[in-house]
Amino acid sequence: MTHPTLAVTRLTLTRFRSYASARLECDARPVVLTGENGAGKTNLLEAVSFLAPGRGMRRAKISDAERIGDSRAADWTGGPGWAIAAQVQTPLGPVEIGTGRDPAGGESERRLVHIDGRPAKGQIALAEHVAVVWLTPQMDRLFQEAASGRRRFLDRLVFGFDPGHAGRLTKYENALRERARILRDGPVDPAWLSALEDQMVETGIAVAAARAEMVRRLEAAASQGVGPFPAPGIRMAGAIDELLADRPALEAEEGFRRALADGRRVDAVAGGAGIGPHKSDLAVTYRAKNMPAELGSTGEQKALLIAIVLANARLMKAETGTPPLLLLDEVAAHLDEGRRQALFDEILATGAQAWMTGTDAEIFRPLGERATHIQVAQSQLSHAEIW
Ligand SMILES: Nc1ncnc2c1ncn2[C@@H]1O[C@H](COP(=O)(O)OP(=O)(O)O)[C@@H](O)[C@H]1O
Ligand SMILES: [Mg+2]
Repeated sequence: MTHPTLAVTRLTLTRFRSYASARLECDARPVVLTGENGAGKTNLLEAVSFLAPGRGMRRAKISDAERIGDSRAADWTGGPGWAIAAQVQTPLGPVEIGTGRDPAGGESERRLVHIDGRPAKGQIALAEHVAVVWLTPQMDRLFQEAASGRRRFLDRLVFGFDPGHAGRLTKYENALRERARILRDGPVDPAWLSALEDQMVETGIAVAAARAEMVRRLEAAASQGVGPFPAPGIRMAGAIDELLADRPALEAEEGFRRALADGRRVDAVAGGAGIGPHKSDLAVTYRAKNMPAELGSTGEQKALLIAIVLANARLMKAETGTPPLLLLDEVAAHLDEGRRQALFDEILATGAQAWMTGTDAEIFRPLGERATHIQVAQSQLSHAEIW
C-alpha cells in the first residue's frame, strides 16, 4: 500500500488578512501562486502555515491576521475573528482542520483549533497531522540574526519527525518561565523550585537530544549537497549540547540538574536560566570551505537554506512516507535557471506539495501540468489555464 503524500486539497479563508473569503481546491501537486505585489500570495502561504502549531509564517499577533475593513459591511453577518478551514490528505488518511481567532475572545490572542469537527486541546495537536516548513524573504537574514530564529527553524523540522517535540518545548518554556518568576519575585519554595527544575531537565534534555539527532541526520542527508545547492555542515552549539555529546542522556540530565541548582543565584539577577536548550544555536557552515554560513553572500546563504529544506524533505519522505508541506515564498524568482530547475526537480522527486510564489508566471512554465497554477489578483484566486 502506498501512503498518500501530505497535501492540502481544499482551503477556505474567512476574513483572513486581505481575503474577505476565498476558496481553493487543488490536489497533491505543488501549487504555484503568481500575481502582482500585494495581490495576496504571502497571505495565502501564511494561512497554510497556520495548519501547523505556532504563530505562523509571519509570527504575527493572532489579531493582526484579522481582515481590516469589512466588519461593518452591510452583508457581514458573522462575529469578529478569522477562520481557515482545510481538507488535508495525510499518510494516515484525510483530516479536516479548522483554525482561527476565538470570535468570543474579545482581546484574546488565542488560536482555536478544530480537528475533524472536534475542538482540539491546543494547537499542538496539529503536529500530529501536518508538518510545514517555510522559506521567506525575511529568512535571508536567518544566519545574521538572533539564535532564536535558527532554533525555531530547526524545531519546525523536528516537528515533522517527532510531533511530541512541540509539546515538550512548550512544557520546557513554561517551567523555565515559572522558575525565573519565582527566583525573581519569590517566595522561593525549595520543593516547587526543584519540581520545576526536574521538569526543565526532563523536557530540556529531550529537546536537545531531538535537535542533536535531527542535525546529525540532516547533515548526512545533505552531505553531497542537493543538486547544485551546497552541502552544509550542521551542528548544535551550546552548553547543554556539550553536556549531551558522547554521554548517556542520564548523565547529561544529572549535569543539567546540577547546573540549574548552582545557577539559581545568578539566574535570579540575570533572569531566565544560564543553561538550557533555549540557549542553543544552530551552527551552519559551508562544508566544502568550512566557512560559517553568515559569511556567505545573500544568495549563497539562501542556497544553503534551500539545501537544508530539501534534504529535510527527502529525509522525511524516506522515514515517514511523506515530505512536509513546503512554503517557498519568493524563492524561485531569485535563483538562476540551473538552480531553479534543480529546485523544481527535487520538489517533484520527493512529491512534496510545495507552495511557491512569484510575480512572473513565466518562470514556473517548466513545471507545466505537474503543478497547480493559481493566479492571485486583489485577493481573488483563479486557476490559471495557460498550459
Ligand atoms: N489584516 C489585514 N487586513 C486587510 N488587509 C491586510 C491585512 N494584513 C495585510 N493586508 C494586506 O494584504 C495585501 C497583500 O499582502 P501579501 O499577501 O503580502 O501580498 P503579496 O502577493 O505581494 O505576497 C497587502 O496589501 C496588505 O496591506
Ligand atoms: Mg509576498
